[in-house]
Amino acid sequence: MMFDFRFSEGLSKPELYRELLRAADALTAGECDGVANMANVAALLWEFLPDVNWTGFYRMVDGELVLGPFAGRPACIRIPLTSGVCGACAASGTSQLVEDVHAFPGHIACDAETRSELVVPVRRGGVVIAVIDLDSPLPSRFDLEDQAGIEELAGLLSGRI
Ligand code: SME
Repeated sequence: MMFDFRFSEGLSKPELYRELLRAADALTAGECDGVANMANVAALLWEFLPDVNWTGFYRMVDGELVLGPFAGRPACIRIPLTSGVCGACAASGTSQLVEDVHAFPGHIACDAETRSELVVPVRRGGVVIAVIDLDSPLPSRFDLEDQAGIEELAGLLSGRI
């Protein structure tokens, strides 16, 4: 089977996220293995989103975040909930839209090129089970439309990862 999902030039952000959600749904609907689904969605985010240098998952394991499937450079493996943008997202259960990572207290620099970041929680039954992390080398790369699109993706994945 061949999948050819990718970003098309000229799509508005809402259209882009509609396509992304449709592709993510198609890729994960019939598969119960969470690692396989996270891996495909990390690759999909990498293909669809312009100007990103890391797309992937951290999973909540025994009260800390542990690296999951991703696209991009190797990253820090374990993140306590007291650290970084991902920790803040998991601890508060709210999305973190960071326009300038250098201004975020405790930001963990996995890649010195990263300038802005969006981290969204994935919840199941009200509990944060993972976060979706997107990094960009551009300042202020992500906005509320990105946040809304990734939050919708997180909702879709809730029972699939
Ligand atoms: N920057 C993140 C750490 C994860 S990496 O960016 C992949 C943070 O501060 O939580």
